[in-house]
Amino acid sequence: MSRFPSLPGSEYEEDDAKYNMICDKHKHLLETLPKGSGWRIQHLYNYSGFWLGPMTLKSNLLLHTYFKYEPTDIILASFMKSGTTWLKALMFSTLNRDHYSFSNHHLHNNSPQSTFPYLDAESYPMTDFTTFSAPRLFATHFARTLLPACMSSCKFVYVCRDPKDILVSKWHFMSKLRSKDLPPLSFDEAFELFCLGVSEFGPFWEHVLSYWRASLESPDKILFLRYEELMKQPEVVVRKLADFMGKPVTMEEEKKGVVGEIINLCSFENLRNLEVNKKGVEKFGKLVEVEKQQFFRKGEIGDWKNYLSEEMKDRIDGIIDEKFKGSDSFNRDLLKSGKQLSYSTKQFTHNMSMNKIGPTISHRLQVSMKGGHHNVNGTPTDFKNFSRSVKLFVDRMLHYSVTHLDKRNDPINVFVVKFDKEDNSASCSCMCFMRIGYLCRHVFCVYRVNNVDTIPSRYIAERWTKDLLPKRIFDISNGYGVDSTPRSLLRFEILDSVTECVDALRSDDDGLSFFATRIRELKDHIFRNIVSNFNSKKCNDDVIEDLLGITGNVEVSCSNPEGIRNKGTGKSRRIGSSFERSAEKPKKAPRLYRTCFKYVTDHDSRNCKKKNPDSNTST
Ligand code: A3P
Repeated sequence: MSRFPSLPGSEYEEDDAKYNMICDKHKHLLETLPKGSGWRIQHLYNYSGFWLGPMTLKSNLLLHTYFKYEPTDIILASFMKSGTTWLKALMFSTLNRDHYSFSNHHLHNNSPQSTFPYLDAESYPMTDFTTFSAPRLFATHFARTLLPACMSSCKFVYVCRDPKDILVSKWHFMSKLRSKDLPPLSFDEAFELFCLGVSEFGPFWEHVLSYWRASLESPDKILFLRYEELMKQPEVVVRKLADFMGKPVTMEEEKKGVVGEIINLCSFENLRNLEVNKKGVEKFGKLVEVEKQQFFRKGEIGDWKNYLSEEMKDRIDGIIDEKFKGSDSFNRDLLKSGKQLSYSTKQFTHNMSMNKIGPTISHRLQVSMKGGHHNVNGTPTDFKNFSRSVKLFVDRMLHYSVTHLDKRNDPINVFVVKFDKEDNSASCSCMCFMRIGYLCRHVFCVYRVNNVDTIPSRYIAERWTKDLLPKRIFDISNGYGVDSTPRSLLRFEILDSVTECVDALRSDDDGLSFFATRIRELKDHIFRNIVSNFNSKKCNDDVIEDLLGITGNVEVSCSNPEGIRNKGTGKSRRIGSSFERSAEKPKKAPRLYRTCFKYVTDHDSRNCKKKNPDSNTST
């Protein structure tokens, strides 16, 4: 029997039947699933590896049955308290920047939470999303594996945050919402539950990894952002977001400072102080109401330091390290930024040469890691680029064949590199790593085409990561024969800083474009304000007049003095000066040529008539 009155019409009756089935399934799940302590309510249920409250579990079932995704949908996914409110405001204002003026914006009268709906707060009957215009924006706290698989064609923006800050933020948030029938949740209890993975939508690490793994499958569909990155470089992230959502920031908008306007509008201070975000409640589903001001607490990085002891910190870091093993680059990125190996340092070359890999090869590796060609003219076995690579899938492994070509582009050697996209492990048929403990350039090239720019930890020898030589050795002032005048040192410092930035941003398009814009601005500023008085034309004229005794607008033509021929060939080619006479060509001494038994100066074995009677060549 239906628990809900049937709406007229067969379609509705069918819907009712479906909904009843969902209710039965939900009831059955609540009776059978493993239970854990909730932060807001008494119990959470472990559904497909994730802890959900009873209502969110039902929303998930509804989502799988009723939600009709569009491939153009953009979904903001996050673990609770990772900065969802901020991202909602940013995504909404970036996508709709043509529709509202910044002086009278939609966000001035509407909370960021209300700008687009949460998929995990839906109840029956589900909202009719078909009236939304494309691209539709949605938010979710569900892990990727809890969402319908078909949604893989949608775009996802995933924001993550230092789990220690999430823990503190979530504890504050949930404590405010916690049912009055339950005893308060102490921070120590919350910490323990978090470490066990028992928290709404958790475990945190499985949540992050679910999106991380999906992003390996289709990197262009998931944009990974970090709360900390947003704090440090909001303009870069906003440009990234705009590109990702298919509405890149135009040059005109750049000039108008639109990016800055979006950032100011969505800043913590601005949003928190808006009347609309100070009062009233936000509704999630039919039962949950949250005071709007609860979404704006401190908005800081590292607030965990006020709550976690050194031991607690180590425990969370240890768990994350352990859980993210094998997702190496992510681990480094999330918690250990700054510990990445830099391929641009002199140390790279130094470390490589420790293993008898000379500077040339080391340089080639470096260049190949940065995505360039490393092919040097003149070596018979030049390693050409990947134009001849063959890519095959065999048991989840990608098989590449890498061909060495000679000068005439004929293949000399073919190596097979097996590459596992899941954990970036690779093995090459040349067995370089097995023999000498260093990855070969074939693997590096496979990494290059797969945009892997961090060597998985298993291939990194301990000593690579240590500073073998004191840093000051690399200081320019310690260089041998270096011009150490202050002006020269400044010049070196500028060049080094630029190179360092370009290297650090080597695979970050937005970072590079941001850097290029800034450099261009700086250059314009310098040429406009500092060297504006420098009239190069006049200066050139002066120099010409000084040197030649004629004014700049007289045409000067130079030609070689007669009777003088160029000396040498190739790089040593030079033009003889006017007082040099060309040297007499020495006469060839006659040599006894054994084929014709004559002393000759005018032929050799290739054009000897006696040896090749058919040859037309005269002897
Ligand atoms: P704290 O509790 O550490 O202050 P979510 O939106 O996913 O629920 O995350 C809430 C966290 O984001 C809170 O962190 C909140 O203060 C912070 N936050 C909300 N809006 C923000 C903004 N515009 N800028 C920076 N942080 C913001």
